[in-house]
Amino acid sequence: MVLDEDYKNGIIWQDIQHQRLLSTIKSLANSAVAGRSDKELFYKTIYFLKEYISCHFATEELYMTKYGYPGIKNHLEEHHLFIEDFKKFISQSIYSAKESATLLNSLNVWFVNHIKGTDRQLAKFLLDRAKI
Ligand SMILES: [Fe+2]
Repeated sequence: MVLDEDYKNGIIWQDIQHQRLLSTIKSLANSAVAGRSDKELFYKTIYFLKEYISCHFATEELYMTKYGYPGIKNHLEEHHLFIEDFKKFISQSIYSAKESATLLNSLNVWFVNHIKGTDRQLAKFLLDRAKI
């Protein structure tokens, strides 16, 4: 899968956090393409995602609440599902090339569907309506 890197939504804090996730996805993808088994990268990605979930989701949720975002219910449901899927994944997964590929695939799907879809709608609202 070739990742479309047009991830910028125009909100600086959101774009910076998304860029970090994109870098992580690219590292995993490069490792897979090279046919390398990279245990360290796998666990670094898990660690990064724990931090990403607590920091990035909380920031988005703060802005949604503060500015009365009408799409908050759906957006929070997507965050909640991601957290649940991630918790399930880390409770069942120890490193293997297959698990790393599963993680990469789910992050690709998340990037395309949530960051370029749901998060883009939020960014548009914050820029157009909340004028941040
Ligand atoms: Fe989000």
